[in-house]
Amino acid sequence: MKEKLDIAAYVQARQKLINQALATEMDRAEQAAPPGEGTARLLAAMRYSLLAGGKRLRPLLFLAVIESLKPETAENLSSYLPFACGIEMLHTYSLIHDDLPAMDDDDLRRGRPSCHKAFDEATAILAGDGLLTHCFFCLLANSAVSSVHVVQAAQYFAWKAGLGGMVTGQALDLAAENTTEPLDLPGLRKIHASKTGALLEAALVCGGRLVGADGAQRQSLLEFGQQFGLAFQIKDDILDVVGEESRLGKPVGSDAANNKTTYVSLLGLQGAEQAAEQAIMAAKKALQSLGEQGQLLLGLTEYFCQRDN
Ligand code: IPE
Ligand code: IPE
Ligand code: MG
Ligand code: MG
Ligand code: MG
Repeated sequence: MKEKLDIAAYVQARQKLINQALATEMDRAEQAAPPGEGTARLLAAMRYSLLAGGKRLRPLLFLAVIESLKPETAENLSSYLPFACGIEMLHTYSLIHDDLPAMDDDDLRRGRPSCHKAFDEATAILAGDGLLTHCFFCLLANSAVSSVHVVQAAQYFAWKAGLGGMVTGQALDLAAENTTEPLDLPGLRKIHASKTGALLEAALVCGGRLVGADGAQRQSLLEFGQQFGLAFQIKDDILDVVGEESRLGKPVGSDAANNKTTYVSLLGLQGAEQAAEQAIMAAKKALQSLGEQGQLLLGLTEYFCQRDN
């Protein structure tokens, strides 16, 4: 019980830090951008989606790795916050585009009308573009860490967010909606690993890179991220069926409406719960090689995999 309370307090404190940093970064960008009506609308849409809450899971995992491998940073994480902001910006862009009528066509996100509903489609596309590009501005803004590590981490993140991961995963996800060849479990697992797992892995491995984690530590973080990402997306599939819209802040039943193959459609609810449990166990196992340094990530795994939102 005590452990759980501590983790909840940790998550809350880091979410606060990340939210403040995101707001500051948007203020800074707003002051520097060429003024005009179009800019104002674009920035309003970016802020609307970015500052609407959200669990901040990816920057949280990134910071957790840094604090775990380099405990003296826990008192002052400020030099790592721009990178953390970049990670969240990229994730938010992926959500804005994921909700567009041409993709999942969902009208609710983070408890409010999706970006294209609150603004319009063109503005939502541009808000996504703005967050995607500003992500890399933020990733590269880190002056406290060796620039070689920063550049390596940013390049790795670009690959996992794009062709080596999320964007390709989204393309596979959309292609699978309308195919005559039904997806099987290995095929679905590959999509989940790309569209969701890749960004989670990248957040973890980038945290490791910035504090000079060795190859074995980065490998453990990668394996942990793969299993955590799978568990997280299976849980997302489950919540799309049994979740409460008011808790989730996004529509329930979107997957069935879009003819998506999910862990629930392939295995049933119970089978999906079992698959999630297996992935959680494998994630915890991957942390063992980190010893004490894996404790915080272990707590976060329990906290986030038992979520109802
Ligand atoms: C939603 O991500 C999209 C998935 C990859 C499942 P989150 O569940 O992390 O969404 P937010 O950031 O909390 O809104
Ligand atoms: C999307 O998966 C993953 C992304 C890259 C955004 P989903 O389409 O299932 O995510 P939700 O349920 O809309 O958040
Ligand atoms: Mg989707
Ligand atoms: Mg979706
Ligand atoms: Mg979903």
